[in-house]
Amino acid sequence: MPEYLTQEQIDKFDQDGYLIVPGFLDISESDALLQRSKQLLEEFDLQNHPLTKFTTEDDNHVGDDYFLTSGDKIRYFLEADAVDASGALTRPKENAVNKIGHALHELDPAFHRVTLQNPRLRALVRDLGFHKDPTLLFDSNTHYYHRVVPQLALQSMVITKQPQIGGEVPEHNDSTFLYTTPPSALGFWIALEKCTSSNGALSFAPGSHKTAPLTKRFVRLPQGGTGMQRVLPVEEEQKISEAHKGKYVLETCEPGDLVLIHGSVLHKSERNTSPYTRFAYTFHMIESPPHATYDEKNWLQPTAEMPFSKILV
Ligand code: FE2
Repeated sequence: MPEYLTQEQIDKFDQDGYLIVPGFLDISESDALLQRSKQLLEEFDLQNHPLTKFTTEDDNHVGDDYFLTSGDKIRYFLEADAVDASGALTRPKENAVNKIGHALHELDPAFHRVTLQNPRLRALVRDLGFHKDPTLLFDSNTHYYHRVVPQLALQSMVITKQPQIGGEVPEHNDSTFLYTTPPSALGFWIALEKCTSSNGALSFAPGSHKTAPLTKRFVRLPQGGTGMQRVLPVEEEQKISEAHKGKYVLETCEPGDLVLIHGSVLHKSERNTSPYTRFAYTFHMIESPPHATYDEKNWLQPTAEMPFSKILV
């Protein structure tokens, strides 16, 4: 028997590749994370910051050292529109940050509590794993990994999605960024504020984790920095995108709601055109060896000081 989810929820996750879990955090828990996020923005020290911008709008992804060495730190990444041509901020620092990452779950007690010390999360993780026959795991045509039993926590972020400038996140799947063989990434995305159609709520192409193979990978380049490496030709990617057009479902949510995101499901979010922020806390998990191998080309690499933490201990 499942411990936290219902069998209907588990089946829906399998069918759609994502699942909304209402009230995963109660309002006091989500509010504590929201307040801590705002405090972190206040603590953000612009001195010595390289003004690293985070954008997913093109293939010229961030790839500087500040980004690449952020896996075991708490660092701040700016909205593309928050820095002018001379490199100066165009707005107060707390309204200029796109996201804070990537080791909140390890280093910050408030985020650690809801991630690595959360019995509800462990129960949910066990629920996702136990219902499938492990011999029917991987479909090499679609790259669909039938069973996701996440064991290791990789990275965590607060995404602030600032009013007016909070950028669009175009169609993608998360295994593009956190690749394992076979693909096993699982995203956890927790709304800390109301998410609406105008402030950039997520939308999903239900079932696309079974129909949309991985088309590219975000990797560390041998010459330094990062870039996209093609898995399939760009024409294939366009065909896949075309096939899922018009199939997206917008998922509004309330603070404390959790969205589970299969690493292969297509999703996106529009630019925040509202006057309101859209804070969310998100983290990712993967399967551990021998079930999956973490890829050495991924931008995020564990360090000797901070290996990936086990969820189920
Ligand atoms: Fe994503």
